[in-house]
Amino acid sequence: RQIPVREKNIVLIGFMGVGKTTIGQLVAKKLYRDFIDIDVEIEKNEKMLIKDIFSKYGEKEFRRIERETISDICQAKRCKVVSLGGGAFQQEEVRNVCLENCIVLFLDLSWDRWKERLDLIIESRPVLHNRTLEEMQELFNARQDAYSKHNSRVQTDNLVAEEVADYIVETLK
Ligand code: S3P
Repeated sequence: RQIPVREKNIVLIGFMGVGKTTIGQLVAKKLYRDFIDIDVEIEKNEKMLIKDIFSKYGEKEFRRIERETISDICQAKRCKVVSLGGGAFQQEEVRNVCLENCIVLFLDLSWDRWKERLDLIIESRPVLHNRTLEEMQELFNARQDAYSKHNSRVQTDNLVAEEVADYIVETLK
C-alpha cells in the first residue's frame, strides 16, 4: 500500500550544522508531530555519545548503526519529523529507504555562511576533527550531490530557523 502524503515522515537532510535539529523541532511543533533526531536515537540505543562511538568502534560501525536506525524508523514510524546526521545520505540504502517512505527536504546553506558558524559546529563533530578548512570545504562540496539529487531544496542563507520552518510548513500544504 502506498503511504498517503499526510502520513509520511518528513525527513530533513543537509550538512552538519545547517540547523536540521533546530528546524526539525520547529516544524514538528507547527505540525503537531513528534520529532526524532537520528543521532539522539543512536546515542540512546547505544548508551554512548556519537563521538565515543567513532573513537571506540570507528566510522564504519557508526555508519552501520546509523543505517539500521534510519531504516527502522523510516519504515516503522509515520507522521514524524526526522532529522538525519549529515553523512547519512551518502549511503545508498539510506537514500532508498527515505525516498520510498518519506518526504525528504534538503536544508541548503552556502559554504560562506556555514564557515561563519564553524566554531559552534566543530566540537561535537568527530568527522571534522583533524581536517583543515580546505579539507572541510572538500567534504562539504563532495556531499552536495547526494543531498540535492531527487530532493526538494530549501535555501536557508537569509532566513532564521523560524522562517525556514514556516516555509517548510507552507510548502507541504
Ligand atoms: C556526521 C554528522 C553528524 C553525526 C556524525 C557524523 C557526518 O550529524 O551523525 O557526527 O558525517 O556529517 P549532524 O549532521 O546532525 O551534525
